[in-house]
Amino acid sequence: MGQEMTLPIHTPVLLIETVEALAVQPGGRYIDCTIGTGGHAIAILERSSPGGQLLGIDADPVAIEVARARLGHYGSSVLLVNENFVNLQAICHKYDFLPVHGILFDLGLSSLQLESGGGGRGFSFQQDAPLDMRFSPHQKTTAADILNTYSETGLANLIATYGEERYSRQIARRIVAERPITSTLHLVQVIERAAVYRRDKIHPATRTFQALRIAVNHELQNLESALKQAIAVLGAEGRLVVISYHSLEDRIVKRFMQQESKDCLCPPNVPVCACGHRASIRMFTKKALTPSPAEVRTNPRSRSAKLRAAEQIMHHSDCCSAVEDHCPPARLEVGKRRRPSVIKKLRIAFSAM
Ligand SMILES: C[S@@+](CC[C@H](N)C(=O)[O-])C[C@H]1O[C@@H](n2cnc3c(N)ncnc32)[C@H](O)[C@@H]1O
Repeated sequence: MGQEMTLPIHTPVLLIETVEALAVQPGGRYIDCTIGTGGHAIAILERSSPGGQLLGIDADPVAIEVARARLGHYGSSVLLVNENFVNLQAICHKYDFLPVHGILFDLGLSSLQLESGGGGRGFSFQQDAPLDMRFSPHQKTTAADILNTYSETGLANLIATYGEERYSRQIARRIVAERPITSTLHLVQVIERAAVYRRDKIHPATRTFQALRIAVNHELQNLESALKQAIAVLGAEGRLVVISYHSLEDRIVKRFMQQESKDCLCPPNVPVCACGHRASIRMFTKKALTPSPAEVRTNPRSRSAKLRAAEQIMHHSDCCSAVEDHCPPARLEVGKRRRPSVIKKLRIAFSAM
C-alpha cells in the first residue's frame, strides 16, 4: 500500500515492559491481537528472531494494510489476519497457530484511527466526521444508528455504563431533543448544550464518545470472551499481557486474572470446595504497570495505560496424572499452591463442627 507514509504511525505504549512481560524468546510463537500499525509487533519479531513467528490480528482493515507494509520484510515470520479477536481460538485453529508462547492485547484505538483516516470514522471529537466508530466496515451498527434510534433511557444507561458519565441523563435528553445527529461536531455541540457544570479537566464529550465506541464495537463483551480463549491457546508457561486504557477495561482484565489464578471460586463460607475451579494462570503483576513520567511526556496518549500480565500454568492431571516428581518445575508449583487453599477449607470445616 503506498499510503503508509502519509498515515500516522501509532507510538507503542509500554514497549519494553510489554516485551519483557511476554518473555519473548528466539524461535517463539506470539500473537498480537491488536496489531494496529505494528509497533509492538516489530519489537516482538526482533526479539524472537531467529525463528520467531507472529500472528497479527486487527478488526480494522486499514490497520492490517499499514501493518502489512511495515512488517513486509519479516516475510513468512508474520501472518496478518483482518479479524475480530473475539474469534481468537477459531483463528488459531484455522491457521494452525497453536500452542503459543505469548499473547498481547493492546486495547482501544490507535493514532491511525484517531487522526487522518480515523477522523473520517468519527472516533475523534476534535475533527468533524460522520458518526461511524466501527472498527470494521463489516459491522452493522454505527454510532449514528445508536444515537438516532435508542430511547432516552437506553441512551442514558449506555452513556452512564460505558462512559461512567455522571451527566448521562441530561446528555441523553438533549440528544433526543436534537435528533437526528449524524456528525461528530454536531454531537459535541449537543453535549456542550446539555449545559452541565464540570470540574474535571477532560473534554465534556470524552465520556460520551467512549461510551458510543464501546457499544458500537461490543468492546467489553469481546474482551471478556477473548481473554478466556487466550488461556486456551497458550502453551504451558505461555504469557498473557494486556494493556488497557480505561477503568472498565482494566476492571475486566484484573478480575479475570484474579479469578483465573484461584483454585476455588466458592464463597468464603462454603467449607468444602464445590465449584471444582482450578487455577489456569499465575499473575505476576499484582499492581498494574504504568508508563514512566518520561514516557507520558513524550507520548501523552500513554498516560492512562495499565499493563497486567500472567503466565499459563498446567495441572498435574494434564501432564503426569498428579505424580509430582514427573512434572517440570513450573507445573509442580500448581500442586504446591493448591494445598494451602484445601487445608484452609478443611480448617474452616473442622472449626465449624
Ligand atoms: C491501541 S491500538 C494497537 C496499537 C499497536 N499495539 C501498535 O503498536 O501499533 C488497538 C488496535 O486494536 C484494534 N482492535 C480493537 N478491538 C479489537 C478487536 N475486538 N478485534 C481486533 N482488533 C481490535 C483496533 O482496531 C486498533 O488498531
